[in-house]
Amino acid sequence: MSSPLDSLLSLSKRRGFVFQSSEIYGGLNGCWDYGPLGVELLRNVKEAWWKAMTYRDDIEGLDASILMHPKIWEASGHIGQFTDPMIDNKVSKARHRADTLIEDYIQKLQKKGKNDLATTIESRLNAAEQPSDFHSIIIDEQIPDPVSGTTDWTEVRYFNLMFKTFVGPVEDMSNTVYLRPETAQGIFVNFKNVLDSTRQKPPFGIAQIGKAFRNEINTKNFLFRTREFEQMEMQYFVKPGTEKEWFDYWFEQRWNWFINLGMDASVLRAKPHEKLAHYASAATDIEFLFPFGWGEIEGIHSRTDFDLKNHQEFSGKKQEYVDTVTKERYTPYVIETSVGASRSFMAFLCNAFAEEEVMAENGNSEKRSVLRFHPLLAPVKAAVFPLTSKDGLPEIAEPLYRDLQKTWRVQMDESGSIGKRYRRQDEIGTPFCITIDNQTIVDQAVTIRNRDTMQQERINISTVKEYLSAHI
Ligand code: GAP
Repeated sequence: MSSPLDSLLSLSKRRGFVFQSSEIYGGLNGCWDYGPLGVELLRNVKEAWWKAMTYRDDIEGLDASILMHPKIWEASGHIGQFTDPMIDNKVSKARHRADTLIEDYIQKLQKKGKNDLATTIESRLNAAEQPSDFHSIIIDEQIPDPVSGTTDWTEVRYFNLMFKTFVGPVEDMSNTVYLRPETAQGIFVNFKNVLDSTRQKPPFGIAQIGKAFRNEINTKNFLFRTREFEQMEMQYFVKPGTEKEWFDYWFEQRWNWFINLGMDASVLRAKPHEKLAHYASAATDIEFLFPFGWGEIEGIHSRTDFDLKNHQEFSGKKQEYVDTVTKERYTPYVIETSVGASRSFMAFLCNAFAEEEVMAENGNSEKRSVLRFHPLLAPVKAAVFPLTSKDGLPEIAEPLYRDLQKTWRVQMDESGSIGKRYRRQDEIGTPFCITIDNQTIVDQAVTIRNRDTMQQERINISTVKEYLSAHI
């Protein structure tokens, strides 16, 4: 039997949401391509975030370049600390992240009911810092390699996740630059530019959507952990001492964003960090219940003045806010909201996906695959069906289709039974199907069918646009 993730992968490929990158050459691990429907869904996710985050008085947008001065990554701590502990199995040569190898082993123990042992290992893992700490856990517990089943391990080494490249024609160390591993630093180094070119003063934020790259040791679970992905990040600059209040505010805003786009609270949970990243004084993740278990989709971090202070030190340029009236000056503290566009794309896809038994037109029950996207996220908003290709029905459908197309992505489908056409649209998550039948010629009414309730209603053809506007 296929798992829900396998069904989703197969639907994604079959209907053009996501393809493996470089597929005809055997693929490139950790990279994916968004197909015709995927790119629409991804754009809709990003658009919903952009509107929620920047269509307000206190947040400005930004689009910084991917390649930046290499000193930025020294100042941010990424050159020294953006590392994962890795370990190789000597027999299979498989490379693993040491911490995930241990986490997966803990989960296996929990499933077997060996909770005491799982808790002991978990507390050792939480305390682990040095490569030797991870190594001792793996050796002491005789954790086997999932590939070969053997326990013949190398030492644990730290591995920097940043991709390196060179600017200019000479490939030498002095020309090294990095593909950014997060979009956040592009925001920090533009803090003064935005402050000086707008009328903002703390509390205010800068938001950005863009690609980020991490040379992950293990890519896994479809779009969950990839080497190239998109982030949607916002840094909110606040007066020191007010960070707790803004941390709570932004956590609530971001939680509600997922809820308002159709996620049920039962598939979300808040997970405060036990181990904090090098820049954070507090952090809580929003996790989503994926088919493979809970996984982080967004982090809300209280980053103190770590980044601005370090950029001030490394660049020699003041990164302060000075109040022109009171002359008060300070380096703002930062609350960050950081969500993966591609990872939340996957969460929205999983959340929407259902396979269910429904009553077909002929009265028999049949299986339907449906993507119950929030209408704002649905890649195709409506489909127009002339019931037959004769009696002047296509001539009525065509102008309606063209008119709707000016505002939304819509499809026209003239082939197969109405039932088949509904199934095709359900499978890609189209919220509304509009059928033009012979009665339309008499009363100018069309049938609108709702994807989720499968209820149908007759409305006048002249009001279709108004109807869709109200429901999307
Ligand atoms: N600026 C802070 C930062 O980058 P992070 O927790 O490392 O924090 C934030 O990443 C979000 O970016 C994650 O919650 C996730 O949604 C996304 N993300 C991180 N690494 C990813 C990867 N390898 N593949 C896909 N998404 C990733």
